[in-house]
Amino acid sequence: MSHERQGATPARWGADLQTSLFAKGRAGRRATTMPAWRGDDVDTALPAGALRAAPADLPSLSEPEVLRHYTLLSNLNHHIERGLYPLGSCTMKYNPRLNEKVAALSGFASLHPEQDEADLQGLLCALKLLQDALCEITGFAACSLQPAAGAHGEYLGMQVIRARHLDRGENGRTEVLIPDSAHGTNPASVVLTGMKPRTLKSGPDGRLDLDALRAAVGPQTAGIMITNPNTLGLFESDIVEVARIVHAAGGLLYMDGANLNAILGKAKPALMGFDVVHLNLHKTFSTPHGGGGPGAGPICVTQELARFLPAPVIREDAGVYRLDACAGECRPSVHAYMGNTGVCLRALTYILRLGGDGLTRVSERAVLNANYLRKRLEGLLTVEHAEGTLHEFIATGADWKEKFGVRTLDIAKRMLDYGIHAPTIYFPLIVDEAIMVEPTETESKETLDRFVDVVAAIRAEAERDPDLLRTAPHTTPVSRLDEAAAARRPDLSWLGPCNCG
Ligand SMILES: Cc1ncc(COP(=O)(O)O)c(C=O)c1O
Repeated sequence: MSHERQGATPARWGADLQTSLFAKGRAGRRATTMPAWRGDDVDTALPAGALRAAPADLPSLSEPEVLRHYTLLSNLNHHIERGLYPLGSCTMKYNPRLNEKVAALSGFASLHPEQDEADLQGLLCALKLLQDALCEITGFAACSLQPAAGAHGEYLGMQVIRARHLDRGENGRTEVLIPDSAHGTNPASVVLTGMKPRTLKSGPDGRLDLDALRAAVGPQTAGIMITNPNTLGLFESDIVEVARIVHAAGGLLYMDGANLNAILGKAKPALMGFDVVHLNLHKTFSTPHGGGGPGAGPICVTQELARFLPAPVIREDAGVYRLDACAGECRPSVHAYMGNTGVCLRALTYILRLGGDGLTRVSERAVLNANYLRKRLEGLLTVEHAEGTLHEFIATGADWKEKFGVRTLDIAKRMLDYGIHAPTIYFPLIVDEAIMVEPTETESKETLDRFVDVVAAIRAEAERDPDLLRTAPHTTPVSRLDEAAAARRPDLSWLGPCNCG
């Protein structure tokens, strides 16, 4: 592998990148032809207050100019069609094109949710099929497809748990136990439902510590929120005993099922003793979700909790589907209509295409790929809690910091120069200089081997020229960004540089 700074320089992207669509536009160019207006005179057809005083200042461009602009923009971003995306905890797997075709069928995509139920039969049937499939996969009795993301599912799941306790008059159950390895959304969701998170310290093996759990449960316990396998990629082997302890104390078990990719077809959350699970359809069941959306985070629950799911509920009677408003039985909805149906249709297609055996092979292959990579990285990166990792593993850059004076952030940035999206870094918080790698089942052995070669090359660079890493990336359109400023003062305007102080 070459030790040179690889690939294009930012200048190579050229002036095109600097020019907004607005500046590229020329009066009179068109990418579309609108049908002629055949109604009344516009002045009389629209109320006076809705009329523009001057035409909108929109760019005028030809179709190829528009296409080139967006193709260029799409190439500036890293995406799964461009290269490896081993972002731990995010399951960035390849998204089969078949899913897109199904979601785009006009019988689905052109529906309006306010249409009569008679017109929605196909969609309702598909959504009911998905609910049933998710119940089968998780072992639960009922499902709501409404949540639009994993965190939204957590929020709904916590609401369901809270509603069940209130229903039994157990108003004092407001504390939710959460291991210190949990995703940050877990405590946030608990707080949003008016309950209190309480952190449980993990044991030395990275799993739940039963003594700490026994000491923490009590009449105040609403439940426990566990990711299984957890964010270290480890299966909670004492999960049945955990369930016994929490249930005996009157609490319920919530599973963050974002890591389901590791156990599909192998283990059902309901049989482990959980009462509620949320799934990240946009990870486990493939949906393009880089850049923050779209997603779907359905929850599945036990029979006892089914009546706390939000309205409307899809019901089927003798082959006819309807949306049941539940007449005050269910909880208020958490999303307009039926949720992000496009994502649900992609997930259903994925599930039906693979079938039960195919889904089992997905998790076997995901675990195999992660373990192959972990083993091959030995001597290059130190892996924490390596024993028994499933679909992902956590390495640490702490020894690179000590030996070469480079941080995990520098390693991650340098990977971008090699055309690889950086793994997740600095998460979970319990591992110093964490690098979390999840290759997924959709990557070939050759791609995994290349990742190892890249890590080896970067390690050699760190030894020889640590500044190369500290100043990376060198080949991307922009180099190091001020991430705090980007979040606090985003410049989303085409009019010019942000003037927002
Ligand atoms: C373990 C875990 N829980 C919850 C979430 C939150 O899911 P979302 O980003 O869809 O809200 C994630 C997302 O990465 C996750 O990895």
